[in-house]
Amino acid sequence: MADLHLNTNEVSRTVADLPGPPGLPLLGNLFQMAPAKLHVTLERWAGQYGSPFRVQLGTIPITVWTEAELFQTVMRERPNLYRRFSPIESAMTELGGNGLFSAEGPAWEPQRRLIMRALSFSNIKSFYPALSSITQRFLVRLQSAAKDNRTVEMADELKRYTVDVTSTLAFGEDPHTLEQERGVIQEQLALILPALMRRVTALFPYWRYVSLPEDRRLARAMVEVHGYIKKMIERAQDRMRQSRDSPPHNLLEAMLAARNEPDSTVTDELVSANVLTLLVAGEDTTANAIAWALMYIAADLPLQHRLFEQSSAALGGSPVCPDYDALKHLDLCEAVCSEALRLRPVAAIQTFEPLSDVCLDGVAIPAGTRMFFLTRPSMLDPQNFVHPEVFNPDRWKHPRDPSDGAHEQKAYLTFGAGPRVCPGRYLAGVEMRLVISMLMKHFRVELAIDPEEIEEISAFTMVPNRMPVKLHPVT
Ligand code: HEM
Repeated sequence: MADLHLNTNEVSRTVADLPGPPGLPLLGNLFQMAPAKLHVTLERWAGQYGSPFRVQLGTIPITVWTEAELFQTVMRERPNLYRRFSPIESAMTELGGNGLFSAEGPAWEPQRRLIMRALSFSNIKSFYPALSSITQRFLVRLQSAAKDNRTVEMADELKRYTVDVTSTLAFGEDPHTLEQERGVIQEQLALILPALMRRVTALFPYWRYVSLPEDRRLARAMVEVHGYIKKMIERAQDRMRQSRDSPPHNLLEAMLAARNEPDSTVTDELVSANVLTLLVAGEDTTANAIAWALMYIAADLPLQHRLFEQSSAALGGSPVCPDYDALKHLDLCEAVCSEALRLRPVAAIQTFEPLSDVCLDGVAIPAGTRMFFLTRPSMLDPQNFVHPEVFNPDRWKHPRDPSDGAHEQKAYLTFGAGPRVCPGRYLAGVEMRLVISMLMKHFRVELAIDPEEIEEISAFTMVPNRMPVKLHPVT
């Protein structure tokens, strides 16, 4: 193992030396790692074997880690020394979605620059009127459900909101899924992340040889999704032709303009892959983060009262937060989501592979070894967060009094870190403030089932199996 990054003096163990759950010959731990419960299984094993430990996917070893400091080290050393799990890139390529999330090597940086600009603070600020009007439309939809005394599946409702927001911001058109009942693009998008989860954790790419019913469903959905994206791109091209010489108005136009430049490396496939990436990344994560937050809010009436007070003061006579500057008075609304994400991180497993042989925490790790980092254990460590098991949004208040106890920001890895940290985190924060304040000003939220019935499902993101709520108008 001759490599600059490997200081052999540090090596005290190899991957084969790591402890781990016993498995079957040739199959390893395959049958103990059901994709839908993967994060729970790995967290349980981390408690049993410590970090790092090793699991076997057939004959392929996967190292599993929990320490935030190591997590930070690995994430900071991207894209040169580490990459995401290689099966993510191949699975996303097959789905026509190898955009920013799965891109590696020299292809990653130019995409990152374009998307960072589109999701920057200043862009979100200038887009605020559209955001606020989408939030008002969401309110109208929820008011109608409340009037009919209907139970709402909150994660599904929120996905309509996040798809409308991402499309308007990044692609310059609002699909108005908030106004539709059936046939919305979310129905197809919903199949992508669970399929990615299955494929990334599969022993071998069976779907290239045998098409199971879920693979056929996915293939049909992808035809619809790509048809949807193609039409959106055609409409954007028409708009650009009509407003010739004006600078791009959104990410999609910026990508199309980059594609039209001489010697451009931006292809039609790349544009389409990034539309798909943003639709999926922007939809599921934020919607589920807010849905998890609502579970805690519903269980805590005094907290609802405080949120009502904060929202009423910031919104004044307006149905939703009236302007970008007023968002800064909605700290508690974002804090409930940050705290929910600490206890229920929607990105519960993050994956890496070293590009060269490395030594991490005394373990010699050959290039290409698969690594899982579990986000939650360090956020539940009392050395990082005081009384970590307690849902306490006030731990996020600024400025913090050190006598309040541990609050290690570096252990909060819900948005990742380093050069590939989530570029959508500002947008997610704004959506959280807007939606929670709108809900709290207008409704009392009640969970329609026993919280014990809500299960965590690993579907690439970590999602609740259900989040049905009743909304009671506040008079
Ligand atoms: C609560 C909401 C969200 C959470 C918890 C979340 C979480 C994450 C995490 C953990 C990563 C990996 C970061 C890393 O590797 O260091 C990521 C990457 C990414 N996220 Fe988010 N995200 C959220 C919202 C969004 C939104 C709203 C968008 C866009 C509209 C978005 C777009 C992306 C993209 C494009 C990447 C890939 C970045 C890259 O590889 O350079 N995310 N997100």
